Amino acid sequence: MAGNWKMYKTAGDTTAFFEKFLPLVASATDRDIVICAPYVNLPAAIAAVSGSRVEVGAQNLYWGKEGAFTGEISGPMLTAIGCKWVIVGHSERRQFFGETDATVLKRTQAALEHGLLPIVCVGERLEERESGSTEAVLKTQFDGGIAGLTPEQFSKIAIAYEPVWAIGTGKTATPEIAQQAHAYIRGLIVEKFGEAAAAASRILYGGSVKPDNVKNLMGQTDIDGALVGGASLEPASFGAIVNH
Ligand code: 13P
Repeated sequence: MAGNWKMYKTAGDTTAFFEKFLPLVASATDRDIVICAPYVNLPAAIAAVSGSRVEVGAQNLYWGKEGAFTGEISGPMLTAIGCKWVIVGHSERRQFFGETDATVLKRTQAALEHGLLPIVCVGERLEERESGSTEAVLKTQFDGGIAGLTPEQFSKIAIAYEPVWAIGTGKTATPEIAQQAHAYIRGLIVEKFGEAAAAASRILYGGSVKPDNVKNLMGQTDIDGALVGGASLEPASFGAIVNH
């Protein structure tokens, strides 16, 4: 169960969040819990979760190790501060910051090389769904951004299916629509990496996940977790989602 805070909260807000959040999820010992915070809040988040089962992730990374890349953050910088996870290829990065399937693959490979666990995002836009090309879009994103990993690398990633039309809109995909897309992605994994890898892989759903819809989504065969935006900002709502 992963939260993506996007560009919300200061370091002070981060500390205050975990003070309330950690006691709420203390008995959720059968699931991984991750908060992906803005870069500058990572040290506060990592200090706050110390001694708990909650882990911390970044929302992006650059694929170079170091160099003259003003404004970028590398994998080794993230691992050095105790960051465990990183989101790669979020639709907002694809939409606003020029992310492509090729750069998704580079970032994912760099994350793995430096010991980070990537959450790789895929998902179709509204016009793509309406024109009936959802599966074609998912296949292109999978082939370009994920299929280039070795089986060993693939075993370490989580995939997040986030239909762009459901992000921040309050329009959750119905559990059936989400399940269909997840099953399709699992099929792509079977073709490329085999049955065992597909069965072991985790596919998270993201897009307007809330405390009142999480149970039905998580009840679907191929939905293994959630990547939560807006509802991860409040301790009570993300606590309820984690504990669903
Ligand atoms: P919302 O939960 O706010 O729709 O955001 C989903 C998302 O983009 C998570 O990465």
